[in-house]
Amino acid sequence: MSDPRPAPPTVYIETYGCQMNVADSERMYGTLVAHGYAPVDAPDGADVILVNTCAIRENAETRVIGRLGELRRFMKPDTVVGVTGCMAQRLGPRLLDQARHVSLVVGPDGYRALPALLDGARRGERFSATDFDLEEHYEDVVARRFEGVKAWIPVQRGCNYRCTYCIVPTTRGPERSRKLADVVREVEQVVRDGLTEVVLLGQTVNSYHDGTHDFADLLRAVGAVDGIRRVRYTSPHPNDFSDRVIAAMAEVPSVCEHVHLPMQSGSTGMLKRMLRRYTREDYLACVERLRAAIPGLALTTDIIVGFPGETDEEFEDTLSLCRAVRFDDAFMFKFSPREGTPATRMPAEWTVPDEVVAARFDRLVATVRGMAREGNLARLGDVTEVLVEKVARDGALLQARSRDFKTVMVPADAARIGEYLSVRLTGTTGATFTGLPVDTVATAAPSGGSPPRAPLPVAAI
Ligand code: 5AD
Ligand code: SF4
Repeated sequence: MSDPRPAPPTVYIETYGCQMNVADSERMYGTLVAHGYAPVDAPDGADVILVNTCAIRENAETRVIGRLGELRRFMKPDTVVGVTGCMAQRLGPRLLDQARHVSLVVGPDGYRALPALLDGARRGERFSATDFDLEEHYEDVVARRFEGVKAWIPVQRGCNYRCTYCIVPTTRGPERSRKLADVVREVEQVVRDGLTEVVLLGQTVNSYHDGTHDFADLLRAVGAVDGIRRVRYTSPHPNDFSDRVIAAMAEVPSVCEHVHLPMQSGSTGMLKRMLRRYTREDYLACVERLRAAIPGLALTTDIIVGFPGETDEEFEDTLSLCRAVRFDDAFMFKFSPREGTPATRMPAEWTVPDEVVAARFDRLVATVRGMAREGNLARLGDVTEVLVEKVARDGALLQARSRDFKTVMVPADAARIGEYLSVRLTGTTGATFTGLPVDTVATAAPSGGSPPRAPLPVAAI
């Protein structure tokens, strides 16, 4: 006999950009599941397809436009396609005009309304919803997590800095923090769900302040949650590393020995034009304070090449600051002008020619990779604790991470995903390691909690 109940509508969400978007997608799934939708892991034949987008650089948006075109072929006659996230916020109704098969455009503060908006869209209506809601933290939404072993926890939304290249203050609005107690409650739930690592997310996460508690309080409170073994956070701003925050980082055993500290440039003049609000010397001093407090600290960073007016000397300053800090790794970007940002109003003659940007970019990549390689070679033979995250892309090895954010490929059975292993680093490509287990340190969830789960399907990121 066939089941008389209608099948629930299905939803597929494809996520681009940063971890904040991944966390938002998990909340969108949560909201939609609570309203009777069933998540699926492919767009083919889904009733609803949402593309959660990034606007940080032009190529991020170009990719989405291309992908939106491609998605047409997966649509049934009644499929609803929606665009969410930063590009949705930036373009609003312009996206509806540009892509006729898109019927919904929703910015980062509008996801609570998704079920209602989708009802309308399924009746043939087209909407753009891009109002900011400064109270919105999706507190009552249960995130539907797809990452197997760690949880993304947004603790702050928006940004109050105004770096002159950056679209984020426009797309995500002003900074606001969740209440510490709400964050802790979510972390406790994460432990009950069998996860032992959390990553606290915010645009300038260490400026977190909920009116009563600062980021130091938050690190201590999250670190004190029974069953949490690893706490990470991203991304901090150098100016918000108070002594209190550094002390909390040093003193809370679960806070990992890694800081991703966006530098952007090593030239004080450039940093000024970028409105980063620190000098080269301030940045280096911040690094030194962190290193003095946290032995074995790994440092990674973000760097932009070809910002308006960048001279050869200024670029050399970026290279020399990289050498002085000796980063473990870096995300490096060619400057991409974003409509409406102050950088686009700088004199046209400040534009750095494409071929100069390309040459500088290649030199920067070679410098950073060379240092990373040297640092990694020096680690060979070390024994370190890793958390096994997933099956590696080639399918033969498992991918694991050390506390200091090194990727280690380990030959082990997939059943060990979610376990902490002690491994000896036996090889390196220069960027990642291979390691052999020396013995099992412990399984996940050391103090109660359920056993580690198999990873759920992950939407494309
Ligand atoms: N062009 C290039 N890179 C950018 N970033 C932010 N805005 C731009 C832009 N307009 C980089 C910064 C930031 C990272 C998330 O993206 O390095 O730290
Ligand atoms: Fe953008 Fe600067 Fe805010 Fe980071 S701190 S999100 S780079 S404006």
